[in-house]
Amino acid sequence: MGSVEAERLEARYAQARRLAAHVRNNTSDLAPAPMRNDVRVYTDPARHAAERQKLFRQTPIVACLSRELPGAGSYRLFDETGLPIVVVRGADGEVRAFLNICTHRGARLAREQEGSARLFTCWFHGWSFDTQGSLVGVPERERFQGCLEPSAHLIAVPAAERHGIVFVQASPGSQMDIDAHLGSFGDVLAGLDLGKCERVKTGQIPVNANWKYALDTYGEGYHFAALHKQTLAPYFRNDVTVYDRYGPHHRVGFASRDVEQWASKPESEWPVPGPAGIHYLFPNTIIFVGSVRPGFSYTTLFRHFPGEEVGETVTYKTIYAPSGVNSEEYRKEVEAAFDATAHVVATEDYVTAAEGWRNMVAMPEGSTVVYGRQELALQYQHMAIADAIGMPLPAVSA
Ligand code: FES
Ligand SMILES: [Fe+2]
Repeated sequence: MGSVEAERLEARYAQARRLAAHVRNNTSDLAPAPMRNDVRVYTDPARHAAERQKLFRQTPIVACLSRELPGAGSYRLFDETGLPIVVVRGADGEVRAFLNICTHRGARLAREQEGSARLFTCWFHGWSFDTQGSLVGVPERERFQGCLEPSAHLIAVPAAERHGIVFVQASPGSQMDIDAHLGSFGDVLAGLDLGKCERVKTGQIPVNANWKYALDTYGEGYHFAALHKQTLAPYFRNDVTVYDRYGPHHRVGFASRDVEQWASKPESEWPVPGPAGIHYLFPNTIIFVGSVRPGFSYTTLFRHFPGEEVGETVTYKTIYAPSGVNSEEYRKEVEAAFDATAHVVATEDYVTAAEGWRNMVAMPEGSTVVYGRQELALQYQHMAIADAIGMPLPAVSA
């Protein structure tokens, strides 16, 4: 085993030791105190507009995983932030992103959700651009003389690829420092081996709630026993959390019930720990490694995007086979896992989110919600979001 792999395995053991100790002692990672939050954080259109602008246009956002752009010329549309973008892997292997807007008269250039192309040729008048965004073909070019210089190339948008993830910052001309953004979370992401993940199934789950209300449902296990009584509670404890923070990002580990079987045994009898848990990649992405059935592990991306309205969200959910699909039978298993999680999210979490958010709109001014000490991920997540948009959380009375 290489030293990097040995280090990653040791990190997983370290997490397993913490989980096991919590299970033995009936303890959990906890915030120092509960925290109240004004419901306006979820309902204020001005805050929503600031989030859309600062978090979704000026922060690196996950567009896809690397294997979804498998070779030179592979492209995908990335319209989720509201800006039409095409992400493409060039002949040099680099990932680039451009506004998906023809520089002649603004037509939509790439029109399939994904595909492979050496050139993008506009279907309106036939201008063509290469995978580096350069304008390389103009029918009747001489009739545009003097007008295509200095540049009629596609407008670039910052893009980068790290640890098997493709990031785009949906703002032309902006500076993106992906390494500064990821910070020490980069090592955690590297340990997930996302570069090997092969997409199996993808879909969208809309919810009539603020995007942060939807996001909150991924950060705590406290609701397993009540809301997910039939679906998750049989497999997971709701009172044991292992929490790690990496700048604005974090990882949350929940204790599956089988931890109780081995927590008191010597480590040599433990199952070898794999990567697991909820990984929050600021501001809107959850990478869930595991499944609603213990013993089975897949990688699922939940990317939450706010609509124009403060109470509109779409979650783009994609499940990946962590080391690729090796048989049709396995593909079906992963598809079934997608359906099982989507069912829990759509019929339990997001029903709660939609109803709860509607209640927030109806609450009198000054109303608050409270995050318990065990809901620590939510506490830090809201602080990080408020910090990033430069709008402090409203003061609340204790
Ligand atoms: S708008 Fe694209 S070629 Fe005219
Ligand atoms: Fe849930």
